[in-house]
Amino acid sequence: MIEATGKHTRIFCALDSADLGKVRSLAQSISGAVDGLKLGLEFFSAQGPAGVRDIAGLGVPIFLDVKLHDIPNTVAGAIRSLAPLAPYYLTLHAGGGAEMMRAARHAAHEEAARLSLAPPRLLAVTVLTSLDESDLAQQGVAGTSSEQVVRLAELARAAEIDGIVSSPREITAIRAACGEGFDIVVPGIRPGGSASGDQKRVMTPGEAVRAGASALVIGRPITSATDPAEAAARIRQEIDAA
Ligand code: C5P
Repeated sequence: MIEATGKHTRIFCALDSADLGKVRSLAQSISGAVDGLKLGLEFFSAQGPAGVRDIAGLGVPIFLDVKLHDIPNTVAGAIRSLAPLAPYYLTLHAGGGAEMMRAARHAAHEEAARLSLAPPRLLAVTVLTSLDESDLAQQGVAGTSSEQVVRLAELARAAEIDGIVSSPREITAIRAACGEGFDIVVPGIRPGGSASGDQKRVMTPGEAVRAGASALVIGRPITSATDPAEAAARIRQEIDAA
């Protein structure tokens, strides 16, 4: 039985811009209507930790999507450096391997305890949705991308990573393989009637919730709306009704 019902499914709005003023003003307008804000490599590369502190100062949980991938010692060091920002979610690549993920978890917990902060919840990225099976074959990965996603999800679960970022169509297989108590965080969400843009495999918020998603990452359907807070509130209603 899937526990994740609409009541528990959180919305993180992706603020994909390098411009601090633009991100801050969007963040201010929607922070009361969403559960958190996702800041990615575009923002972080331009604005750095100071930019993250600025947005976190609004008091809304931050999903820091920097997709760490390096040797265990370096990833652990990066996580110690990011720990003072106290992100709610922090991403790393499962492809870095079990030892890297274990080192990441250890560093996250040890440094957060030292700083008297809650540890970030670590989310593993499996197969980038920009890669298809011919890309995987070029890298020597046999089988389907779904099989590879589930294999890496299980590796992340075994390394005590808190959850995974996945495409909507992998939710059911990951939930079956990894069980409850593992966050499945899903981009590629489009409310009925909204433009899919460059997202090819989309689900509505209600479909993703019913499939077992723990949190939805939604960017343009909120940020490009005439009234972003109202768009977020409508998505919340759809989730709560699912
Ligand atoms: O605007 P949109 O709703 O498509 O934004 C989705 C967000 O989720 C973007 O920040 C995008 O980079 C991210 N993402 C994604 N697909 C993945 C992983 C992350 O769309 N597989």
